[in-house]
Amino acid sequence: MLERREFIRQTIVGTGALLFTRYSPFAAAADTGAADSRIEVLLEETLGTISPNIYGHFAENLSGVVYDGMWVGEKSKVPNVDGIRKELIDEMRKIKAPVVRFPGGCFADSYDWRDGVGPRDKRPRRTNFWAERESSAAPASHRYDPNEFGTNEFAHFCKLIGAQPYLAANLRSLPAEQFYRWVEYCNSPAGSTTLADTRAEAGYPEPFNIRFWGVGNESWGCGGDFTPQEYAVEYRRFAAWVPRYGQELSFIASGPSDDNWDWTRGFLEEIVRKSPGQLRSIYGLALHYYAWNLSRGGTRNWIEGKGDALKFDAVDWYELLRQGDVMESLIDGHWQVMEEFDREHSIKLVVDEWGPWYRPGSELTPGDQLEQVPTLRDALFSGMTLDTFNRHPEKVAMANCAQLINCLNSLYLAHEDKFCVTPVGHVFAMYAAHQDGQAVRSVFLAPEVKYDRDGKPATFWGLKGSASRHDKDLVLTVVNPHVSEPRETEIGIRGGAVKSGTVTTLTNSNIQAHNTFEQRDAVHPQTRNLEAQGRVITFTFPPASVTKLVLTLT
Ligand code: AHR
Repeated sequence: MLERREFIRQTIVGTGALLFTRYSPFAAAADTGAADSRIEVLLEETLGTISPNIYGHFAENLSGVVYDGMWVGEKSKVPNVDGIRKELIDEMRKIKAPVVRFPGGCFADSYDWRDGVGPRDKRPRRTNFWAERESSAAPASHRYDPNEFGTNEFAHFCKLIGAQPYLAANLRSLPAEQFYRWVEYCNSPAGSTTLADTRAEAGYPEPFNIRFWGVGNESWGCGGDFTPQEYAVEYRRFAAWVPRYGQELSFIASGPSDDNWDWTRGFLEEIVRKSPGQLRSIYGLALHYYAWNLSRGGTRNWIEGKGDALKFDAVDWYELLRQGDVMESLIDGHWQVMEEFDREHSIKLVVDEWGPWYRPGSELTPGDQLEQVPTLRDALFSGMTLDTFNRHPEKVAMANCAQLINCLNSLYLAHEDKFCVTPVGHVFAMYAAHQDGQAVRSVFLAPEVKYDRDGKPATFWGLKGSASRHDKDLVLTVVNPHVSEPRETEIGIRGGAVKSGTVTTLTNSNIQAHNTFEQRDAVHPQTRNLEAQGRVITFTFPPASVTKLVLTLT
């Protein structure tokens, strides 16, 4: 094994890194001799303000997300506030949930908002977009949407948790007029329009003042199978005239999936073909990225390539994290393409669907389509994804984890009166400390993880994370992906020194560890005081962990 000093020396020589330069905190620090890794935080190198909205959520009317997960009904025995699951409200307040996207996803482009307003007992039942994929065990509400949870209930839910609503409009199957009408229903002042009166009759005289509006969803697929050029024409038409009522409106265009640079380029090319001024109608370009292929290069088939949420080995663990790491190149890559048309970068990226996607089989509630049980692996995936967003605050204006509850990378799982916070939910609670902070540059040096990928050597980074400044406090989050090795690390602060601090760690000796309704706390974070001071402190990151250090600076 490479000696630690030799590792650090080789890495510094190899990368020409700034660590160990004259101004580095490491230059004057005594060598403790044990650490094999280093993190340098550069307090003066600010990257921008971390928008709280990158800690956003996504709740689609899909299987058990809304009916069971969020909405239990006012008459339910499950503790609720006006029909909304109380435990969910309480948890979301704790994580400072900033924004929630609804009602889809693919569901959005089949949804008529008019079905979900007016007296609840008069609302129509409609076939849900996802109906045909529902299992026979699923309750009727997952197949035939009772529309009990509509615009009013969603806006009310957002108000209860202190989040902003983000509505995705139907571009595939409703005319642009209905987009305007939905905005009118939500935002026209009390008493001003017939739709404002309808809203008042439901108990909401004051406008919801909804700012964020998605103009379609995945318009390259379930949202209409458009070419990017066709979608751009539709987008221009939808965004051409929307009433403001004094409320700033931020439109989010349906953007690419993964590395589909052609979508980004084709869409923007067509948008500016009319006139460059058209760019001003777009607040954000949505990017969707799911990590799903655990076949180790065996297939690109969407069904066959998926892995299991709960049964996996160390190689599957690294393979998933490696896919999560792709996010950074997608952000950089699409940003570069956007620059070809939008030199000022007035349009930001909105990563409004992200997370791992496994094959069916792990769901806690039998029959819940797309429900999977997040493990410690998904906690690390989520931590490193949020760190990636933190490192690009000038590019990413919003992100929405897919999805909030009972679906994919859930923060929470619920069924009837049962509820638990998943390891992903715990990561969101830990990382909330970054919100509104000044992102500062941090440099990580650590021995790479080496593993055997079906007979071929593979590597993955050894430590990564992000840092943000909040007056005298520095928040540093770090992921150690190694399944068995701790990383003893010297953390140097360039431009400051640590006076005191706390550390919160999420880990488990079992990489498959997860929470269930019966074992709600199998994976939960531990917080303690940190006994360390000075420009360089030493900390050991446990194997397979997500760590948050909150350091008060002198
Ligand atoms: O999150 C599940 C689905 O994934 C969404 O409905 C769709 O937008 C994406 O393909």
